[in-house]
Amino acid sequence: MGTWLEGKPLADKIREEVARDIARVKQARGTVPGLVAVIVGDNPASQSYVRMKEKACQALGLWSEVQRLPAATTMAELKARIDELNAADHVDGILIQLPLPGQLNSHEVISRLRPDKDVDGFHPYSLGLLMENRPGLRPCTPTGIVELIKSTGVKIEGSDVVVIGRSMIVGKPLAAMITNENGTVTICHSKTRDLAQVAARADILIAAMGKPGFVGPEFVKEGALVVDVGSNAVSDPEVVRALFGADPKREKDLQEKGYTWVGDVRPGVIEKAGWLTPSPGGVGPLTIAFLMKSTFDAYRLRRG
Ligand code: GUN
Repeated sequence: MGTWLEGKPLADKIREEVARDIARVKQARGTVPGLVAVIVGDNPASQSYVRMKEKACQALGLWSEVQRLPAATTMAELKARIDELNAADHVDGILIQLPLPGQLNSHEVISRLRPDKDVDGFHPYSLGLLMENRPGLRPCTPTGIVELIKSTGVKIEGSDVVVIGRSMIVGKPLAAMITNENGTVTICHSKTRDLAQVAARADILIAAMGKPGFVGPEFVKEGALVVDVGSNAVSDPEVVRALFGADPKREKDLQEKGYTWVGDVRPGVIEKAGWLTPSPGGVGPLTIAFLMKSTFDAYRLRRG
């Protein structure tokens, strides 16, 4: 039986450090870092993420604004908005919530950001710095995962690390970070042969493919550290019950909200793993904490 690895204790520590940094610059300079989140359309998961980010900004003393644009926004309109934010001196960080509606090309949108305001670290320039293992703004979820692993005392250096999922938000930047930490990384995806056997070689297994309950005990080496990055809104009660049985919290979610958040890892994996992050409550709080830190870093980067 492994240990549940919650994200909150580390997230609280990072948030306290950032809150102290913000209070210091506020006193010394009379300004605070500012973050603008741009959300296009009304994807419910995106709306909920953006609300959590806004609450975190308020709690830490950052200035923040959410700009909501209609689902039918054109490329020209979104680029014009980004140009305004790039030029606005009080805006230190700009976050474009992903995914974007189909008519918008996310590569072109992200590339339009000033790299030193791209607090997500998704701009090709920031990703290039990551590849080179040079300092820069880094994607927040993979940063949170690396720091959470380090907090357990499990060594990344020399470990076999398997990442399932090759997104630009998690899988690919995480693989680069693990390489920079001297881990031996394998990225798996939907075309990987014998996925469960490959995963079961991992000392550290990271599930980030967005498939509810896909990873079961057969994917896990005895004692491995397993990170569940999945955050899937599932509304089918049959699917939920197959994973959790008649869990009262899940049943309440289904009744009240019509869905419940489900990770990529089946909860029974805790029996075999050394560590397992819960979902929700594992990686999510760290993403937000490191976004706050990134916004402070962007402020320092531009203003010294
Ligand atoms: N969508 C899911 N995760 C993220 C994230 O970390 N940043 C942005 N901008 N969009 C996301």
